Amino acid sequence: MTQDVAFPQDRTCPYQPPPGYEPLREARPLTRVTLFDGRRVWAVTGHAVARQLLADPRLSSDRTHEDFPSPTARGATVRGQRLPLVGVDDPEHNAQRRKLIPSFSAKRIAELRPRIQRTVDELLDSLEEQGPPGDLVTAFAFPLPAKVICALLGAPYADAGFFEEQSRRLTLGTRPQDVEQGRSELNRYFQQLIDSEWEAPGDGLIGDLIREQRAAGSSDRQELVMLAGVLLVGGFETTANMISLGTYTLLRHPQRLAELRADRTLMPAAVEELLRFTSIADIMLRMATQDIEIAGHTLRAGDGIVFPLSLINRDADVYPEADRLDWHRAARHHVAFGFGVHQCLGQNLARAELEIALWTLFRRLPKLDFAVPPHEIAFKPGSTIQGLIELPLTW
Ligand code: HEM
Repeated sequence: MTQDVAFPQDRTCPYQPPPGYEPLREARPLTRVTLFDGRRVWAVTGHAVARQLLADPRLSSDRTHEDFPSPTARGATVRGQRLPLVGVDDPEHNAQRRKLIPSFSAKRIAELRPRIQRTVDELLDSLEEQGPPGDLVTAFAFPLPAKVICALLGAPYADAGFFEEQSRRLTLGTRPQDVEQGRSELNRYFQQLIDSEWEAPGDGLIGDLIREQRAAGSSDRQELVMLAGVLLVGGFETTANMISLGTYTLLRHPQRLAELRADRTLMPAAVEELLRFTSIADIMLRMATQDIEIAGHTLRAGDGIVFPLSLINRDADVYPEADRLDWHRAARHHVAFGFGVHQCLGQNLARAELEIALWTLFRRLPKLDFAVPPHEIAFKPGSTIQGLIELPLTW
């Protein structure tokens, strides 16, 4: 009876879907699951149906709707808060997203690559100075995306520590007051940054947005504050977790790692495959706004829908031997960055960070290994972005 499967569940291996999801895999492409509060929602596990639904404008991302599903009690306490971009439907969403697209162009990301490489080198210098052993999460995986986001936004590099601290509060805080405090500290920070750049916009993303607003004769500084916050939260913990979990996964697959070390040209394919294999954003949520007929089922208006990305990305019809890590498969169509109008805006930046971070780490530290038995390493609960809490390594 697939109806009884609880969602979300904790993983037992940080890169594998929870064993408790096995019945959902068998019930592909669509079935029912039960949330923490007993509410039944749809779980989409088939790759084709997931992409079809995520591209369907009858699905909403608006978390202020009273029927929008919440996977945890913590999520339910922040229900009603309006998240720009990721929590807004078209056409408003499209208007917000269009303004940000130039800041994520291939040219902009290419310009950031030398800065990413420099930051990676500096962080690894200090990791090496302090160890072995060392914790990759605190010394490398978290500071790297914090510094890269400073570069992207045009914020002073020295503020990366503050970003890191507040974002961790916001995304990992267990009490509603932690989350609230993190949010208000960040809003205050961005308000000051925007005010100080208003007359003379800099060359980062904040400067771009100010120029864009001024050209349009608008001065909605509050909108800019909220957008900057969403970019920070969207790009920080995700990338950090992917760096540490990517490292863990490679160390657990020594043959794949050896292939990679021998041939840098495999790196882009390896990044795609690691994204597919680990699927760290394993709970994407939507709500149906109208009745929808799909795959022999009827989704009713107001029904909640969850997308367990770890299962969609292991759909055997699309990925033969889906549980195998393989640099030579066509992983590119994975949904680790979502799909449809909300598909990750920062995906090319994330790819650049992951490629540079993982390649440089393993090239510089050829003897890199776990400093404790890998099964003792703590990882995050199933209701959050997946990743490791710490990664003690030696080299
Ligand atoms: C490995 C790293 C990353 C992963 C796995 C990831 C994953 C995702 C996913 C699954 C979504 C879709 C959410 C939904 O449809 O509900 C998303 C959206 C988004 N991501 Fe990422 N992300 C990553 C890195 C980044 C970076 C580096 C940035 C920017 C600095 C970023 C900014 C965003 C934004 C702004 C959205 C919302 C887009 C919209 O609603 O139009 N992400 N991301």
